[in-house]
Amino acid sequence: MEEKENLSRSAENADEARVGEETPKKHSGFTSKIGFVLAAAGSAVGLGNIWRFPYLAAQYGGGIFLLTYIVFALTFGFVLMIAEIAIGRKTGKSAVGAFRALNKKFAFIGILCSLVPILIMPYYSVIGGWVGKYLAAFVSGNGAAAATDGYFNAFISSSWQPLVFFFAFVTVTFVIVLLGVEKGVEKSSKILMPILVVLTIGVAIYVMTVPGAGAGIKYYLLPDFRKFSIKTVFAALGQLFYSMSLAMGIMITYGSYMKKDAKIESSVHQIEIFDTGIALFAGLMVIPATFAFSGGSPEQLGQGPGLMFVALPKVFESFGSVAGGVMGSFFFALVLFAALTSAISLMETVVSIVIDFAKLSRRKACVVTYAGTLVLGLPSLFGFSIWSGFTVGGMTILDMFDFISNSVLMPVVALLTCVFVGYIVNSQTVIDEIELNGPFRKKRFFNVMIKYVCPICIAVILITSVLNVFGIFKL
Ligand code: PHE
Repeated sequence: MEEKENLSRSAENADEARVGEETPKKHSGFTSKIGFVLAAAGSAVGLGNIWRFPYLAAQYGGGIFLLTYIVFALTFGFVLMIAEIAIGRKTGKSAVGAFRALNKKFAFIGILCSLVPILIMPYYSVIGGWVGKYLAAFVSGNGAAAATDGYFNAFISSSWQPLVFFFAFVTVTFVIVLLGVEKGVEKSSKILMPILVVLTIGVAIYVMTVPGAGAGIKYYLLPDFRKFSIKTVFAALGQLFYSMSLAMGIMITYGSYMKKDAKIESSVHQIEIFDTGIALFAGLMVIPATFAFSGGSPEQLGQGPGLMFVALPKVFESFGSVAGGVMGSFFFALVLFAALTSAISLMETVVSIVIDFAKLSRRKACVVTYAGTLVLGLPSLFGFSIWSGFTVGGMTILDMFDFISNSVLMPVVALLTCVFVGYIVNSQTVIDEIELNGPFRKKRFFNVMIKYVCPICIAVILITSVLNVFGIFKL
């Protein structure tokens, strides 16, 4: 329990740390190692694992996407998470303060980090609203309708429904953050998140036994190298940052609350296994279901953000209307809860950024963040209805927000973090921080990755991906 309370205080302390740059670290830190792992994993696990990972895996070649993602998680993900947590723990500050404390000229990297949650929060809430709609459909006994083809598209393209659910999602998040009752939410998450994990695994196992699922399991688990394309690489890298809450300053803040005697290296391994494991099972639920219940045509696999919403209701319906209704309600309620906990941590982060930059009271900053999220979320929402004619390089407005944050800004921040750690403060500083309590087993690997492999690969991926979208470099 106690570690959760420490986490709840994190936002306040983060503000103090940033506003009073010179003040020493005031917070007490996580009381146990597992407390840190659970808190960081709690931020990492959200819609990114359950909604985003399966549709990207389906779209970008199945097994080959999974393989690329795992390779990235073990290399870039490992190195960046180590670096961010170590920077946070060493300085005891969140992003802006941490970069400034290590080198004044590089505080701008912290500022760039701060832009990421500002961009993600609005469209994350649009998807949160979609989850709310599906929960409402199952609870009101309309699960069968939700499982029919065309339901999802009719919903997102309708004029007022997505708006109502989006508004409700942002408002609930806002009220929780404003009233400062995150503690209660975090306590419940200790019980509800493990249930979500068990349920996801259970549904995945059930789906695998449905006739026709075999082709989906094969598609998802066996890499087909002919399906490999540079787009698989772009998608997997963006997903890595998004899912593990990297390159947005969040892990720096978490690191600042970690005790000096906790082992960073093994904690990072545990967070990565947890986060990747849930994404893996979410894919095992959604992709074989797309084959078993819808045939698994390339159009269905490539449908993008709607995949989970189209596939899962069909799974629940196959239980029969009563059991399906109960299961569907239960499942979407838990996913909504996971989305809410992530949205709360995103809104908290944005509120503390607003406090720092606009020097507002916490209350006013909450209201500004709330209004800003509502306004910035509208284009993403209308991109599926009245503004559906507006696309750039085939991307809807929601995809565009997603692209700018995950495929442009986050790789830029990740690249700068590597250069900063590798050359400006020197990777030895991070290594020393990790070695405070025991050997750093992957020290040489870390050194080579952060100095050479990561910055070069990320720079190449970033440049090709941006050129590709603007049609300058066709792939
Ligand atoms: N990592 C979260 C997810 O997978 C998204 C998130 C990012 C949540 C940043 C909080 C902060 O859904």
